[in-house]
Amino acid sequence: MAEYDYDVLVIGAGPGGYVAAIRAAQLGLKTACAEGRETLGGTCLNVGCIPSKAMLHASEYFEAAKGGAMAKMGIEVTPKLNLGKMHEQRIDAVGGLTKGVEFLFKKNKVDWKKGYASFVDAHTVKFGEETVTAKEVVVATGSSVTPLPGVEIDNSKFVVVDSTGALELPSVPKKMVVIGGGVIGLELGSVWRRLGAEVTVVEFLDQILPGMDGDVRKEANKIFKKQGIEFKLGTKVTGCTVKGKKATLTMEPAAGGASETLEADCVLVSIGRKPNTEGLGLENIGLETNNRGQIEVDHEFRTSVAGVRAIGDVIPGPMLAHKAEDEGIAVAEWIAGQTGIVNHDVIPSVVYTLPEIAGVGLTEEHAKEDGEIKVGKFPMMANSRAKTNHEPDGFVKIITDAATDRVLGVWCIASVAGTMIAEAAVAMEFGATSEDIAYTCHAHPTHSEAIKEAAMAVTGKPIHV
Ligand code: FAD
Ligand code: NAI
Repeated sequence: MAEYDYDVLVIGAGPGGYVAAIRAAQLGLKTACAEGRETLGGTCLNVGCIPSKAMLHASEYFEAAKGGAMAKMGIEVTPKLNLGKMHEQRIDAVGGLTKGVEFLFKKNKVDWKKGYASFVDAHTVKFGEETVTAKEVVVATGSSVTPLPGVEIDNSKFVVVDSTGALELPSVPKKMVVIGGGVIGLELGSVWRRLGAEVTVVEFLDQILPGMDGDVRKEANKIFKKQGIEFKLGTKVTGCTVKGKKATLTMEPAAGGASETLEADCVLVSIGRKPNTEGLGLENIGLETNNRGQIEVDHEFRTSVAGVRAIGDVIPGPMLAHKAEDEGIAVAEWIAGQTGIVNHDVIPSVVYTLPEIAGVGLTEEHAKEDGEIKVGKFPMMANSRAKTNHEPDGFVKIITDAATDRVLGVWCIASVAGTMIAEAAVAMEFGATSEDIAYTCHAHPTHSEAIKEAAMAVTGKPIHV
């Protein structure tokens, strides 16, 4: 009789967990995956990446029709918003993809264990009445919204919501206040602004999008302002009262000073996310979290407890679906005795607004701390395709090591920056120099030519500016 029920048990079926389970099964390991939600796919498929992109895409069409972008191209329409239908296509997109993961589990013979799991010991996990043993357990429990003291979220009333509530608003709020000028705030703030809400973003820091390149943060702020989003930077929210369908927020300058109030029909709390470790029974296996609540791991994703590994949002690093997926593949490969590889220095990040904002590698600020650099920049205004498509906003910026010319970071603001950044990630993965990119033939007319021209600009020789 086998010593354990499974070779691998993965806890959590988000992009980290479900990918780890599928890869482990593909590698011949007997695998189960526990999920507390009713459907597979985790935050990303159910209430994150996918439904937010469904709403971003649909609202982009609405604005193109209403705001004049289509009229500019000779398409004159007067759009009427059918929000119910817009939500239906969001729900359909989510349903199709979560069912798809279910299909992949069946195809690869991954057993789906339904219920919230907790450790009994390092090799034994319990879901309600059921207990399962596994040689290796992978914790992929993801993250959930960071609460803001004094601002109580109640997604059922749609007045003070988190991202999950903000995806489902049954009507367009007249006035929406977003607390936190990060990725969620800007993406979901953009959705409701396009559909007609007046949106104000209250951000604690003196600039939006922390962690991104300084030039990108400034330019993005300018573009969002031009689109009609208002910003209260350097401001902290100190409280919120709700009366009926209205919220009143109290706020003051982050550095201290007189407080003021702001009324809203909807308040979105998006000040970050925290790792999910509560209820997992980590105390039963003596596994401690760090001061940010994350589970620390080594390069093979091993925790301090033998037989227990962790991946995705629950461990340090950017909270991104593709990072979780790559770690899912790598952890399964390590468990199977292979070498799993994730290059944590080359993880692209994308904000799916219009234009999109994307980056990979070091910011100019960070790169400068490490030594001499060179920077090449090229405006989208000078890119023929962007110009033809009436998409003049943004730029590409390439940062290289001054001595070796090796690319250290690439940042783009462009309508399709999320797609363009993949090229930069491949280049960096292969240790490319700006010269390598500049001498690579790029198809014309494409937005990606701006990457080639920014690479040419590193040595001062772009053609089109
Ligand atoms: P999760 O996706 O959070 O999955 C963890 C799963 O574990 C959950 O389903 C949870 O129910 C389950 N679970 C937790 N505890 C237990 C337990 N004890 N037992 C059983 N199951 C358990 N990232 C991007 O890269 N691109 C995007 O466009 C993007 N958009 C986003 C939009 C929004 C609104 C949000 C909130 C997030 C977005 N993200 C995006 C982030 C992305 O969703 C996460 O980085 C990603 O889902 C993390 O994957 P994960 O597998 O680590 O965890
Ligand atoms: P975030 O970390 O991106 O932004 C939070 C913002 O809130 C920061 O700018 C921070 O300074 C600000 N803030 C913190 N406390 C505050 C306070 N008290 N008052 C005002 N502002 C305050 O977090 P967000 O937007 O909640 O997203 C969570 C995670 O989800 C992100 O880390 C991101 O990785 C992931 N995500 C990724 C997406 C993508 O890849 N396109 C889309 C959506 C989410």
